[in-house]
Amino acid sequence: MRIDVVSIFPGYLQALDLSLVGKARRDGLLDLRVHDLREWTTDRHRTVDDTPFGGGAGMVMRPDVWGLAVDDVLAEGPARRVLLVPTPSGERLTQRTVEDLAGADQLVLACGRYEGIDARVAENYRARGDVEVREFSLGDYVLNGGEVAALVVVEAVARLLPGVIGNPASLVEESHGTAGLLEYPVYTKPPSWAGLEVPEVLTSGHHGNVARWRREQALARTAERRPDMVAALDPAGLDRTDRAA
Ligand code: ADE
Repeated sequence: MRIDVVSIFPGYLQALDLSLVGKARRDGLLDLRVHDLREWTTDRHRTVDDTPFGGGAGMVMRPDVWGLAVDDVLAEGPARRVLLVPTPSGERLTQRTVEDLAGADQLVLACGRYEGIDARVAENYRARGDVEVREFSLGDYVLNGGEVAALVVVEAVARLLPGVIGNPASLVEESHGTAGLLEYPVYTKPPSWAGLEVPEVLTSGHHGNVARWRREQALARTAERRPDMVAALDPAGLDRTDRAA
């Protein structure tokens, strides 16, 4: 997969040289390119923004500069390309969306700053029809720009690409996976620490009991922390013991 990130702060994306994403890039599993939006400015001051039509505080990013940048980085050919625009007024990013994005051939992340990017940029690429456009939000809070959201998308998508995670089994049981539950608590050595013991069932060697206990913990945790997720569970997927927990 190819991912292009365009930002006025390309240095923000340096973290993508590290850890699993960095390794995926070095192994050739992910073709990640970070660009400075100012490369597409045409004036001496390398201007990327201007005052908002209609008045109001702050500055808006110019569509002409963004248009040149996006046109340039979009890959040629019939590949599935998605233009992603992080914004607090976008749709909430979920694991479902991330799974869908992992199937694309190219993602282009347009990181806005200030009051955001002129709305005609998303409108223009939507109208063209040869690239999907998704405006997304990380959550109900406001960041200073889209760079952190781009880091989030790259990491969440990259770990789903074939070969990136050494043990694909670790993708199976995690929170926001198919079970619709948060993940159960996990423990390792030492068995006793700070006066706290590892739950006995986990050292019992009884796989059925371990699985049962984990399921109960996941349900209890989800009920307490994310009642919205419990409400969305398919009742047909719950068994009698689940209801008791
Ligand atoms: N840019 C600013 N705030 C944001 C948010 N909550 N999610 C995604 N991008 C943003």
